[in-house]
Amino acid sequence: MQRTLSVLGIAGSLRRDSYNRALLRAAHTLAPDRMQIEICELDAIPLYNQDQESPLPAAVEEMKKRIRTADAILIATPEYNYSVPGVLKNAIDWCSRPFGESAWTGKPVAVIGASSGAFGTARAQAHLRQIFVTLDMHPLNRPEILVGNAGARIDATGQLHDEKTRELLKQLLQTLATWTEQLSAVPQA
Ligand SMILES: Cc1cc2nc3c(=O)[nH]c(=O)nc-3n(C[C@H](O)[C@H](O)[C@H](O)COP(=O)(O)O)c2cc1C
Repeated sequence: MQRTLSVLGIAGSLRRDSYNRALLRAAHTLAPDRMQIEICELDAIPLYNQDQESPLPAAVEEMKKRIRTADAILIATPEYNYSVPGVLKNAIDWCSRPFGESAWTGKPVAVIGASSGAFGTARAQAHLRQIFVTLDMHPLNRPEILVGNAGARIDATGQLHDEKTRELLKQLLQTLATWTEQLSAVPQA
């Protein structure tokens, strides 16, 4: 029997009606039976300060624990000024510290994103993929999910009603499940 895969969903936005959190909620309902998605909020994560690494702030310690426990990570990123929002980068930085104790190492990760602009976070996702290199994560390459003009696809109640995006999201989650299982079958060095 296949075991249940736990996925930690992280939305790079604190906005109450965030399109990216809406994408994660949609992912929660569209995930294959063998996958469970929990959403991790970033509200309690302080601004990074190297003076506060020892001990780590409790909210960071908790987030690191949730990353370590998860089989895979799903990041829904907005795009701010052609890049990753500070709130997301800040959480990524905290959870990579202290040096040598990153929680991200070796984790399978998928990235999705929604923006009000036409390019649907293409530039932010590209930057995030560059960050995955130094974090030594294992990103899923395809399918890419770039939800442009998000207000036309996600309604005022936060429901993703665009059928094409829902289908793509379903495909991405299936592929992430397979990717995660394949990686966990590879003996670790
Ligand atoms: C500071 C700032 C910069 C932004 N820069 C971009 C951008 O470069 N490209 C883009 O498509 N949208 C940009 N936007 C619009 C965001 O796509 C939009 O606010 C989106 O709703 C944010 O995601 P959220 O709904 O998950 O909070 C920007 C918004 C803010 C607040």
